[in-house]
Amino acid sequence: MLEPKPFLRWVGGKGWIAPLIKRISEVSEHSIYIEPFLGSGAIFFSLRPSRAILCDVNKELISAFEVVVENPEIVFTRLSRMPISATDYYLVRESKPRSKMGIALRFLYLNRLAYGGIYRVNKDGMFNVPYGKKFSFGDVISRSNLCSSRDILRAAIIRSQDFRATLSKVPRSSLIYVDPVYTSGKSERFDRYTKESFSMSDHQDLANLVTAAVLEKNATAIVSLPYDINFSTLYIGGLWVGLQRGNKFGIRKEKNMPYMELIWIGSAFESNSDLLRIIRSFKSKADLKILGFTSKMLSERTLQSWRSRANTL
Ligand SMILES: C[S@@+](CC[C@H](N)C(=O)[O-])C[C@H]1O[C@@H](n2cnc3c(N)ncnc32)[C@H](O)[C@@H]1O
Repeated sequence: MLEPKPFLRWVGGKGWIAPLIKRISEVSEHSIYIEPFLGSGAIFFSLRPSRAILCDVNKELISAFEVVVENPEIVFTRLSRMPISATDYYLVRESKPRSKMGIALRFLYLNRLAYGGIYRVNKDGMFNVPYGKKFSFGDVISRSNLCSSRDILRAAIIRSQDFRATLSKVPRSSLIYVDPVYTSGKSERFDRYTKESFSMSDHQDLANLVTAAVLEKNATAIVSLPYDINFSTLYIGGLWVGLQRGNKFGIRKEKNMPYMELIWIGSAFESNSDLLRIIRSFKSKADLKILGFTSKMLSERTLQSWRSRANTL
């Protein structure tokens, strides 16, 4: 079987941290993998677990995953017959299909051709990203990639639901990867995923549910968060890891601006040395460097000292 690649373009896609999550997954003794904020499913595609629960609040996105599982050949054939041009893009954008297949095809079409692969809706929930001047759907929309995606997705339960529904019923000993919307509170984000914005009170609910899954259900949870001290008080105990993404492209490279994020790992196995051994021994990749880690409460000073190690990728 060909190794399937994510068939969606997704701003904030986490392919770059997949090597680290994969290493952690190898030592966590889990019975099922859970992603409450699926997006393109970059981590799921990298781990290829034998049992999974994959959820996202975006119904159209979930329809796309469902039709790929149900009939990848028809998805490929019908998508390849759709014409590509600016006029066609805006016609598809204005359309309101009703069937699950129609909704999924429109979603995939717009996702592959929209400017920057951005998913953004206005306050009425209407997708409003302009045409990205692309003239093909790209290699991942191929019969073979969609069929191999179906093969691994068949092992998963796929649902459109809010993270609260997903995390309030986690099976015992799950591995949970959590990649929420990065609320900044300062400005309207360019990648608004839903008509409701994701608030700090959503982040608080999320932290409570994740912590309960770790403490009461023996889960291992890995949470991606912005490099921002304001998130540090939401998660207690566990291990904080500072990460830098490689600056290979674009304005960040030109301005030498490092891109950094945090992950918080809460786990029953944090007490033994496996997790620390993995973090210590993890070798930087072209796209990923560990800046530092601590099992203490995160402070602004720690974030600053890690920041000083950035930019040497
Ligand atoms: C940062 S993206 C996840 C990206 C993903 N990790 C990847 O690699 O592609 C966040 C996702 O959360 C979804 N989302 C937003 N609010 C949500 C909510 N309340 N419950 C569940 N999913 C939500 C969005 O639709 C979006 O797909």
